[in-house]
Amino acid sequence: MAAPLISPSILSADFARLGEEVRAIDAAGADWIHVDVMDGHFVPNITIGPMVVKALRPHTAKVFDVHLMIQPVDLYLQAFADAGADIITFHPEAGPHAHRTVQAIKALGKQAGVSLNPATPAKTLDYLIDDIDLVLVMSVNPGFGGQSFITSQLRKIAAIRKMIDKTGRDIRLEVDGGVDVTTAKLCVDAGADVLVAGTATFKGGPDHYAANIAALKAVG
Ligand code: DX5
Ligand code: ZN
Repeated sequence: MAAPLISPSILSADFARLGEEVRAIDAAGADWIHVDVMDGHFVPNITIGPMVVKALRPHTAKVFDVHLMIQPVDLYLQAFADAGADIITFHPEAGPHAHRTVQAIKALGKQAGVSLNPATPAKTLDYLIDDIDLVLVMSVNPGFGGQSFITSQLRKIAAIRKMIDKTGRDIRLEVDGGVDVTTAKLCVDAGADVLVAGTATFKGGPDHYAANIAALKAVG
């Protein structure tokens, strides 16, 4: 099985030194940089917006994997695209027009991702899958880092892997929340190919980032 891509969530970084932290995970082998955007409305926490994404952009050439946990979504797509997002992922639970949001992201020339909360079934993707570049399965309820992996999501990952393979298209299957070396292996075995890791990347401080990322990649 191929090694998964690792997308460290900067939610677990030192926010007072974000640029430095992004450079450190880049040097430590991060494949993508996962940016968690929370609005205190769709999820019960507030993090950062497009200005911070723009400020971080010169610090790495790696893919900015921007996870929007906001409602409404469409109003802010242009700002995140302009700020340097490469992949823009949103939650269909945040509004009635998920297909319109996918079209809007693609029209901005960005890759479109759809993220499903733990209670949202895989079939939500039925009429989106042919147009998107990435599926993000939430293995915790979004809002906070450091939560425990919800094992029922493994079935969903396996079901979505089948859906993706059926399309014959190159669609990434990413998992977010409670990913550590143990749960990472379960996710990859179920068919995931990208893992978000906040706590598991940043634990122990900068001297440990490379070993932490390597340990996650080694499950593949
Ligand atoms: C949760 C966020 C995650 C989170 C992951 O709402 O979307 O990206 O930061 O954190 P860990 O890896 O600590 O569970
Ligand atoms: Zn996330």
